[in-house]
Amino acid sequence: MSLLFFFFLLFCSLNLQVTLATAADLKAKENPFTPKAYLTRYWNKKINNNLPKSPFLVSKASPLKAVDVASFVKLAAAQNKPPSLFPGISFNVYGPYEDIGKNDINFMTYGGNSNESSTQTSEDPEPSTNSLVNKKKLVTKKMEFSDHSVEPGKYFRESRLKQGTVMPMPNITDKMPKRSFLPRSVVSKLPFSSSKLSAIKEVFHASDNSALECIIKEALKDCERKPNQGETKRCVGSAEDMIDFATSVLGRDVTLRKTENNKGAMQKILIGSVKAVSGGKATKPVSCHQKLYPYLLYYCHSVPKVRVYKADILDPKTKKKINHGVAICHLDTSTWSAGHEAFQALGSGPGRIEVCHWIFENDLIWTIADH
Ligand SMILES: *[C@@H]1O[C@H](CO)[C@@H](O)[C@H](O)[C@H]1NC(C)=O
Ligand SMILES: *[C@@H]1O[C@H](CO)[C@@H](O)[C@H](O)[C@H]1NC(C)=O
Repeated sequence: MSLLFFFFLLFCSLNLQVTLATAADLKAKENPFTPKAYLTRYWNKKINNNLPKSPFLVSKASPLKAVDVASFVKLAAAQNKPPSLFPGISFNVYGPYEDIGKNDINFMTYGGNSNESSTQTSEDPEPSTNSLVNKKKLVTKKMEFSDHSVEPGKYFRESRLKQGTVMPMPNITDKMPKRSFLPRSVVSKLPFSSSKLSAIKEVFHASDNSALECIIKEALKDCERKPNQGETKRCVGSAEDMIDFATSVLGRDVTLRKTENNKGAMQKILIGSVKAVSGGKATKPVSCHQKLYPYLLYYCHSVPKVRVYKADILDPKTKKKINHGVAICHLDTSTWSAGHEAFQALGSGPGRIEVCHWIFENDLIWTIADH
C-alpha cells in the first residue's frame, strides 16, 4: 500500500515538473544547456547514422534545470562528497524518499525475508522486476493459486511469429514508477556499489532497515552479479551511459527499439506483418530493463545468439493495428536451468528449443541498424 502511494507521489511530482519544463521549453526553445539538448548532442556524437532518435529515451532525460545541475556539481566538489539529496535543489522530482521509508513493515516482508537466490535468471523478459515488485506479486500469487502457472503468452516458440497467428499477450504494462534519468554529471558523483552502501543511504535519506534501503540493496546486488557465460552487462543511471554501453558492444551504427505501448496486454492478439531485424541473423543485441531505484536505472545486458523481430499487433476482432511489438528469440538455451519458467510453459528443456518473448513496455533493445 505504502509503495503504491509512493509511486503515485512520484508520478504526480514528475508530471508536474514535466509540464513546467515543457512550458519553459516553449519560451526558450532549444536551450543548449538542458540535459535534453546535451543528450541529443551526445547521441549525434556517438551514433553514426541519421536514423530517428528514440523519443522515449530523449523524454527520459533529466528535467532538471542546468543551473540546478551546476550547483549540485559545485557543491559536490566543494565538500568532496555528494550532497545528500538535495538541499536547495529541486531534485525532489526524483521522489519523496522519506515517505517510502516510513511505513515499510509490509514491504519488508516481501523484500527482506524471501529467499532470492533461486527464482529468476537473466533470460527473463523482466529481470528488472525481479526485485521487490515481483516478489510482492509472487507472494500474492502463491496465496491465490496453489499451482505455479506461467502467465499465458509470456514465452512462445519462434514459429508463432507469423502473420495470422492468434496468441495470448502477457501483461507487458510497465510496473515501475515513472522516473527520469539524472544528468550524467550528477550520477557520476553519486556512489554506486555495495561497499558504499552507507554513503548511498545518506544521499537518499534511507534509514536503517527501511524499504528504501532494501530497494537500493536489491538493485546493487543485481547490478554487481557476475555475468553469465557469454553475457556482457552494465547498470546505467544516465542515457549517455546507456549509449556508451550499447555502442561499446555493438559499434556506432546502432538503433534503439521498443514495444510501442501496452495495448494487447492480457488479451488475445493477432500477429500482423512481421519483420526479422538484421536480416534474420543471430545477433547479440543489448537489452535494457528498468530497475527499481531512486532514479531511473536500467540494467542492460547483451547475450549472444538472439534473433530480434518487429511485429504489428492487431486486435483479432477488428483486425486494426493496436501496437507495434518487439520480440526476441533466444536461439541457444543450453545454459538455462531445466526448471526455467519457459520450459514449464513450452515443455522441452535446455538447448532443445529456442525461446521467444516480447520486450515489455518501456524496456529497450539496441541492435545494429538495418539500412
Ligand atoms: C535459499 O535457497 C538456497 C538455494 O535454493 C538454499 O540453499 C538456501 O538454504 C535457502 N535459504 C533459506 C534461508 O531458505
Ligand atoms: C497489468 O499490470 C499493471 C501494472 O502492474 C496493473 O496495474 C494492471 O492491473 C495489470 N493488468 C491486469 C489485467 O492484470
